[in-house]
Amino acid sequence: MPRHLLNPMDFSVEELDRLMDLAGDIRSNPDKYAHACDRKTLATCFYEPSTRTRLSFESAMYHLGGHVLGFSSADSSSAAKGESVSDTIRVISSYADICAIRHPKEGAAYVASLHSGIPVINAGDGGHQHPTQTLTDLLTIRTLKGRLDRIRVGLCGDLKFGRTVHSLINALSRYEGIEFVMISPPELRVPEYILENLDAKNISYVQVQSLDDAITDLDILYMTRVQRERFFNEDDYVRMKDFYILNKEKMSLAPADMLVMHPLPRVNEISVEVDEDPRAVYFQQAQFGMYIRMALILTLLEIKVD
Ligand code: CP
Repeated sequence: MPRHLLNPMDFSVEELDRLMDLAGDIRSNPDKYAHACDRKTLATCFYEPSTRTRLSFESAMYHLGGHVLGFSSADSSSAAKGESVSDTIRVISSYADICAIRHPKEGAAYVASLHSGIPVINAGDGGHQHPTQTLTDLLTIRTLKGRLDRIRVGLCGDLKFGRTVHSLINALSRYEGIEFVMISPPELRVPEYILENLDAKNISYVQVQSLDDAITDLDILYMTRVQRERFFNEDDYVRMKDFYILNKEKMSLAPADMLVMHPLPRVNEISVEVDEDPRAVYFQQAQFGMYIRMALILTLLEIKVD
């Protein structure tokens, strides 16, 4: 049976460490891995728009010497004619060695995995999970902060629909001494099922509304976009979309060693003037995404490079 990645919790902490070590080695010694996936093919099946996830997967496979095929929207695949995800993945299993799938419906990657003969990677399923973004985030924090435990993480913006936040909370909740500061308007708070999980593990969190108050005492500020595509009506989106805007003035309140992360794409929630601040690491974070996806492809295909 192929191994899949549907949720960041599919990997143990030790496996995550090995994956991040491998990503670090790939980053330091790219030539060593340049032919690791010769004659292997990655399928990218994207039923929803993407820039970073799809292109970093494709770039990852090219840097490993492999090939890529796929589609970048539902409209350009036979989904537009009514084909199911399960039929599509059955067919793709005979065209490719591994598949990354993004879909607007929660659980779509899981359904694909049940009918797949090749490893399936969840590249985002609706408002549910985005495990490879979480791998990217963990690698970014570990590399730039030097640790994944004893950190105070502020999560700011759309914590209700933001799948990257849901996956990150799950993954970080396994490390020692993690504290979450959840900064959102009441309408966009973290779903109850995630809070129940934190309560069960006795993990420290607070839910607040003021970014100005919270920013003074954080190791990481993880900003998120308000997820327009998941709102049921446009008026609610318009009311919420500019609730938080991180600018120079707010950054002046933050600790000197706080990192600003964002899964991107950014809309208005981080002013471009913040990009010059050395604490703003979101573009570097996107670069880490390619290395961790290279490591993930090698791991799921069980390819070892000596
Ligand atoms: N972070 C992320 O998932 O970006 P894309 O939607 O561009 O893939």
